[in-house]
Amino acid sequence: MPELCVGEHRWAVPTGSNLLDALNEAGLNVPYSCRAGSCHACLVHCLAGQPLDAMPEALALDKHAQGWRLACQCRVVEDLRVALFDPQRDGVPAKVSALDWFGDVLRVQLRPERPLRYQAGQHVVLWLGEVARPYSLASLPGEDELLEFHIDCQRPGAFCDKARGLQVGDEMRLGELRGGALHYDPEWQDRPLWLLAAGTGLAPLWGILREALRQGHRSEIRLLHVARDPAGHYLAEPLLKLPGVSVELVLAEQLDEALAGLRPSSRQTVALVCGAPGSVERFARRLFIAGVPRGQVFADVFVEHA
Ligand SMILES: Cc1cc2nc3c(=O)[nH]c(=O)nc-3n(C[C@H](O)[C@H](O)[C@H](O)COP(=O)(O)OP(=O)(O)OC[C@H]3O[C@@H](n4cnc5c(N)ncnc54)[C@H](O)[C@@H]3O)c2cc1C
Ligand code: FES
Repeated sequence: MPELCVGEHRWAVPTGSNLLDALNEAGLNVPYSCRAGSCHACLVHCLAGQPLDAMPEALALDKHAQGWRLACQCRVVEDLRVALFDPQRDGVPAKVSALDWFGDVLRVQLRPERPLRYQAGQHVVLWLGEVARPYSLASLPGEDELLEFHIDCQRPGAFCDKARGLQVGDEMRLGELRGGALHYDPEWQDRPLWLLAAGTGLAPLWGILREALRQGHRSEIRLLHVARDPAGHYLAEPLLKLPGVSVELVLAEQLDEALAGLRPSSRQTVALVCGAPGSVERFARRLFIAGVPRGQVFADVFVEHA
């Protein structure tokens, strides 16, 4: 049986064990969220030995070459020496600069110790103490140096429970920056752009919407935001002020009706969708029925801690 070694801790595991499970079963508390290679919460550093990696392409080439791996995607097939991601050593410090509550949604603005180079629509693993979870950037790169996140605190959760107690001036750590499917492509400027968001799925689309406007998007922009209750339309005010953007604020019970009314004006329509898995599935189904080709639908799913 291969041996795993983390610091002073050394133990044998059955060949082919999932690295994330093996580390957590030994009590090492490696964070994770999606277990699917997308959130990057489970990043670990392999210092000696090679695990069998089912998704090497999920990490940038240089990062992979340095030995970083997504533990959820790796199997232990030989002796491995691993260092866990240490937010104090490996993360970027960021100070809470502003906190605002909109119903159950907490808007957090962070000032990182050094500027983060990112694109609208990407997400970052946020560390609050020992808890790490992926959150989408709602800010627009270059706008100012603050990073904005929208955190849905409606239900209890390890991260949300800590986030509720945040104070201005507190320190958090930024882990891995990651791009999902959501982005704005300048080649879309003359194509209708639909943005469909559920709850805090609005966060990355808020960044992308402003990126599209900044880049001078010339065709229709339509944004549909579904929320549990009126307070959940937490960006209603700034959204409704945006010139040339058609905004529909819909409550959950009105969603079927609103989706039935979605009729693309062109086969060229590009749709970006984001939110919890059930909502994204409903959006995608409706877009398919409405005739938006699958290749023109880009989705990020807020998978929860598995
Ligand atoms: C790429 C990506 C980007 C994301 N971006 C955002 C974003 O911008 N904004 C946002 O709000 N979310 C976002 N999420 C989702 C967010 O990361 C998850 O919802 C995360 O799990 C919340 O962490 P938590 O520690 O508060 O809840 P967790 O402790 O991880 O729990 C997850 C859910 O399960 C429930 N739960 C936990 N334990 C139990 C139990 N024992 N029994 C029953 N239920 C339980 C909790 O109530 C919670 O709702 C994103 C997810 C991904 C993958
Ligand atoms: S990438 Fe491993 S838990 Fe999300």
